[in-house]
Amino acid sequence: MSGYIREASRNPFVLRIAMLAALGGLLFGYDTGVISGALLYIKEDLRAGALAQSWIVAGLLAGAVVGALAGGRLADLISRRRTLLVAGVIYVVAALAAAVAQNAGQLVAARVVLGLAVGAASAVVPLYIAEHTPPKIRGGTVSYNQLMVTIGILVAYLTNFALSGVAHNWRWMLGLGAAPGVVLVAAMLAVPYSPRWLMMRGRRDEARAVLRRTRHADADVEGELDEIESVVAQERRHSWRELFGPRLRPMMVVGIGLAVIQQVVGVNTVVYFSPTILTYTGLKADDAIAQALTVGITNVVFTVVAVLLLDRVGRRTLLVVGTAGLTVALALLGAFFGFGWEREAPWLALAALVLFIASFAVGLGPVFWLMISEIFPLAVRGQAMAVCSLANWAANFVVSYYFLQLVDAIGRAWTFWLYAGLSVAGIVFFVTRVPETRDRSLEEIERELSGPAAARTSPPGRPRHV
Ligand code: BGC
Repeated sequence: MSGYIREASRNPFVLRIAMLAALGGLLFGYDTGVISGALLYIKEDLRAGALAQSWIVAGLLAGAVVGALAGGRLADLISRRRTLLVAGVIYVVAALAAAVAQNAGQLVAARVVLGLAVGAASAVVPLYIAEHTPPKIRGGTVSYNQLMVTIGILVAYLTNFALSGVAHNWRWMLGLGAAPGVVLVAAMLAVPYSPRWLMMRGRRDEARAVLRRTRHADADVEGELDEIESVVAQERRHSWRELFGPRLRPMMVVGIGLAVIQQVVGVNTVVYFSPTILTYTGLKADDAIAQALTVGITNVVFTVVAVLLLDRVGRRTLLVVGTAGLTVALALLGAFFGFGWEREAPWLALAALVLFIASFAVGLGPVFWLMISEIFPLAVRGQAMAVCSLANWAANFVVSYYFLQLVDAIGRAWTFWLYAGLSVAGIVFFVTRVPETRDRSLEEIERELSGPAAARTSPPGRPRHV
């Protein structure tokens, strides 16, 4: 485990860049976590009916679908860094607008705009960090983003808890989100452009200056620049249609497959509805909210474990082991409700939720966002990541929106067993389709996944930056 820390401490400038950019993940997590608590008060204050409430929650997800798409395109056009800057500004304005909304319509509008920023940041942060980071520590370092997502969720749970008796508390809950947004904007003014984006623009001198700061003193910076240049030279901009053409299709299948599986195992059912699930066991609402904090803490702790392990044991192993663990947890939750264990073993529901989130946090949580930053050729990376993030937000929307209706239609037990079945299908997909990307340069991955034709055209004898 100490391998990651030892290696990462040799690249302090990369770590600083990654930590600052990962603030984008904090916005994503805070918003995901805050709304369930805030909604309890919003519905009274703004007299929001069931439909308005659904849209207050889902408005953000709908905005994020569009934001992810636009963010990926902007990242290529105006740079990853400036896209995050714009996302930060939009986020601050929309968080304040949400906090002062006078009716449900205004609040939904603010949440949609907030979603634009959250969606853009979700696609661009992993991309930006991956392009700065040497291969040996890329897994752990890109996953600072996911770590910040989980910290954001936990901070939101704690904020909800702390503000529970305060007047106008939901306005504070939503408005406080502006604070990390301001920090993100300031941070983006202080970090450099990604060297790969600079090379796409033919700005080799600037790219060299950045690489000199982000690589060890003995690293072969010119070799790395040549390698990036060679993939830039072979590539050109692709139309949206070509993203799904024969050459890129296998990678798109992996990216979109991971995006959808990450959501259909029901993670946001757990994140949004843990307190609700715990009240099914007979707990009072206050106790259920307190116990749900355990889920938030476990999520952070096991994401740290993932950061330490990703570059050592690899992405595929963590995906498979983690998803196997969460399948067991889902089967247990199904059995708990199906066989009526609520009275004999009420603790089992919390234990299963904790096992679920720990397993998600070491595997699917970080690995999806990491892999989509690694598997696509540079020329289409922004666009392709945008499509995968969009698929993730859309699947998130569908699963979260229909969870309670699904429970009504097929019951609690079968809802969890359905998720368990989808997780098993996910494991089969990982084993058969997902490549291992540990410890390889983005250019090496690009050559290999682009097939023999691309490999043949790459210049011989290029140094490998592993
Ligand atoms: C997912 C989110 C989820 C979070 C939980 C992220 O990777 O994309 O939908 O809420 O993990 O930690």
